[in-house]
Amino acid sequence: MSGLVEFGIRCPSCRQGLLERSEQGDARCGACGAGYSIESGVVCLLAPGREPRTLAQAAMEWPPLIRIYESRLWRRNPLFAMVTGISFEQEYALINEALGLREGDRLLDLACGPGIYARRFARVVSQGVVVGLDLSVPMLRYAQQKATAQGLRNLLFVRGDAMALPFGEGYFDAVNCCGALHLFPSVTQALSEIARVLRPKGRFSAAVFRRSEGERAAQGTARQRAVSGVDAYSLTQIGALFEEAGLCDVTFLHKGSRWLVVSAQKAG
Ligand SMILES: C[S@@+](CC[C@H](N)C(=O)[O-])C[C@H]1O[C@@H](n2cnc3c(N)ncnc32)[C@H](O)[C@@H]1O
Ligand SMILES: [Zn+2]
Repeated sequence: MSGLVEFGIRCPSCRQGLLERSEQGDARCGACGAGYSIESGVVCLLAPGREPRTLAQAAMEWPPLIRIYESRLWRRNPLFAMVTGISFEQEYALINEALGLREGDRLLDLACGPGIYARRFARVVSQGVVVGLDLSVPMLRYAQQKATAQGLRNLLFVRGDAMALPFGEGYFDAVNCCGALHLFPSVTQALSEIARVLRPKGRFSAAVFRRSEGERAAQGTARQRAVSGVDAYSLTQIGALFEEAGLCDVTFLHKGSRWLVVSAQKAG
């Protein structure tokens, strides 16, 4: 697959046209003609480095962390699994089953980071498409290099913001968002965007930091967020936030004391 239209990227300028690959090799809106650069294979919808960064987001753009992210030094580190109560492989298996992907499906891996999930999904949907969207340019560059090396032509990486997803209503059969809901400036806005781009009965999966119920835990988390940019949610909060966004059948696939893996479905 070498085109761009099948990935369904809506032009952020006019919000009408789909982006196509131009003869010059950049991305161009089929309606208003606005152009967007494609750098090392990554479609850049945001100019680099304009937005304020939290400490956590600065880490997500720090090359040494990106180099080790997928390895046993970080995401597959036994200590990481101790904190979350689940290994990466177990988490992937739970999510894959809950999403019930089929060949030909369209999936958005939101806040895809180095593409650790996106590459697997791309193999599962096979003739379908996977878009990995993230804010971090170094993460996306790494993700694109890996995908190219593995010959995954149905996987595209986009630099964009979870707060305003560049896709039309109901474009995706499934959305996955692991390790990131707790980093977004507004989880409510992100969930509303996720629900918007999902088709009716489309599936959603997420992994997110958990906090205890109650006011004291909420205050502790608010202090942590102010310093680091990392939030955490209680079970009740997740249930309420998802339902509010129109994501129903909320099912907790894993309930660690610090980490939740959860799936839901957009109302039909
Ligand atoms: C901990 S990584 C998770 C990567 C991958 N999903 C995983 O499960 O390993 C969090 C990612 O969220 C991205 N991110 C944070 N805020 C974002 C936003 N507003 N829009 C898009 N991506 C964002 C970061 O750049 C980072 O790559
Ligand atoms: Zn346009």
